Amino acid sequence: MNKKVTVPELRARKRCGPKIAMLTAYDATMARLLDAGGGDVLLVGDSLGMVVQGRENTLPVTLEEICYHGRAVARGTRRAHLVGDMPFMSFQLSALHALESAGRMMKEGCFEAVKLEGGEQYAEHVRAIVGAGIPVMGHLGLLPQSVHAMGGFRVQGRDEVSAERLLRDARVLEEAGAYAIVLEGIPAELSRRVTESVGVPTIGIGAGPHCDGQVLVCYDFLGMYSEVRPKFVKRFAELGDAVVAATRGYVAEVQSGAFPSAEHSFGGSAPKPRPAEETGARPVVEEGPASYGPASDEPS
Ligand code: KIV
Repeated sequence: MNKKVTVPELRARKRCGPKIAMLTAYDATMARLLDAGGGDVLLVGDSLGMVVQGRENTLPVTLEEICYHGRAVARGTRRAHLVGDMPFMSFQLSALHALESAGRMMKEGCFEAVKLEGGEQYAEHVRAIVGAGIPVMGHLGLLPQSVHAMGGFRVQGRDEVSAERLLRDARVLEEAGAYAIVLEGIPAELSRRVTESVGVPTIGIGAGPHCDGQVLVCYDFLGMYSEVRPKFVKRFAELGDAVVAATRGYVAEVQSGAFPSAEHSFGGSAPKPRPAEETGARPVVEEGPASYGPASDEPS
């Protein structure tokens, strides 16, 4: 097994490289694939509100939902560092509330770090969480949890005043103990300035090439999510088209009777289905991990 990616290693990547490749994940199967492909960091993002739950924004996502998906992703992850997004209203109220929520995410969500949106106004919150031994990843620029205040998902930091504020936020987050900072939806030149002015790695999404790493939503980079297609998304595969084509093939074969063929059927002359003990398939009422039944009718 490849060595587990840790917070100290991610910090060191800023100086020594290689760049950090982070992706979101929401379930064990996807996590297993992204981990096998060498993703350094898996984030259970509150983007799950949009790409998993089909909502318009991330605001309704709850701590319980993040933890549920965290446990699933943790089961599929061996090497990658696992980060959980602190959902809207799980950290804003006070430093103590932020610490309580972060603690629950570590205990109930199996996370190794938490991420929260915002800068200077949450410095004390970051300090409290870090003080309890929980690594914090910051998130600046386009903040999806502030979608209504921003008037939509808009590029931030375009003028000098907001660029300066963002630079200050980044320095304050570093000073409060954040070990990395996500920069979302800002001009490439601003992310270069931020990256050069902090000692912790920056991880960009829609922030150009100068960051110390990049992050994409897994369904975006796999070409599976078409509701929104931001300019910064590069599709590394077109799995959405592949899924639709596979489904058409399945429907056609079920309707024509071509599936299942003898190859996908169990032998034997008895016309009635055999009991579960004989086929090895688990009864659906049984407690425990889901099973799709045996791959063949050979005795196991
Ligand atoms: O929720 C999310 O997926 C995120 C990443 C896009 C950085 O915050």
